[in-house]
Amino acid sequence: MAAITRSTGIVAMALMVLSLLWGFLFSSRATGKRLRPNWWLDLHIWLGGLALIFTIVHIVASLLDTNSGIGLVEVFVPRLSAADRSITWGVLATYITAAVVLTTWPKRWKNRRWWRVVHVLSVVGTALALVHSYQSGSDSTQFAFQVGMVIAVAVATYGLGLRLSTLRPQRKPS
Ligand code: HEM
Ligand code: HEM
Repeated sequence: MAAITRSTGIVAMALMVLSLLWGFLFSSRATGKRLRPNWWLDLHIWLGGLALIFTIVHIVASLLDTNSGIGLVEVFVPRLSAADRSITWGVLATYITAAVVLTTWPKRWKNRRWWRVVHVLSVVGTALALVHSYQSGSDSTQFAFQVGMVIAVAVATYGLGLRLSTLRPQRKPS
């Protein structure tokens, strides 16, 4: 069961980072001319939905693993003691991802401004998930895992940087 917890965690993390990148590519209009923007948006939505599904499977696997020390309290309640903190980052990342998905699917929140605030919180959610992965994972001492983490951080930072560089400056009222 521990192997399932680890593998589903890695897949969830990869999907989350890719969904973040696809979201930023779409909103920065950096999707090129070969494929229609809606193709990128559809893929973004699939990646985001699958990230949440794999996260749920990851959590259920950790609950079923009797050696993981994870029970319902650990899954639902963010706790701040030093020993619990690494899991707490995962709990908060899960709440944020669930909020991002459920405020958009099956129906997008009507208030565009608040929808975007919640949606952009996915940057914080992804960062917390990365910290959780590194701190909780028994694979995090492996070279391949560490290379994967560096690539994930680079991809997420690239997406965010691209989006920030295409933000239009606010016009000052004259
Ligand atoms: C599965 C449910 C999801 C749906 C239906 C959805 C839908 C959308 C839509 C319609 C946009 C385009 C907004 C615009 O520019 O007008 C968008 C952008 C974005 N999405 Fe998602 N999304 C989902 C999940 C996620 C997840 C799980 C993440 C992060 C891991 C995410 C991160 C982003 C980001 C970073 C943007 C760019 C926002 C911006 O720059 O303003 N989305 N999404
Ligand atoms: C309630 C929320 C969560 C709980 C209770 C939880 C639980 C755990 C546990 C117990 C481990 C250690 C597994 C082991 O090394 O044997 C772990 C590792 C991991 N988790 Fe989570 N997790 C949660 C949320 C997340 C989220 C949101 C993501 C990413 C989207 C994630 C990705 C990972 C990854 C990548 C690892 C490292 C796996 C490895 O060492 O190969 N987790 N998690």
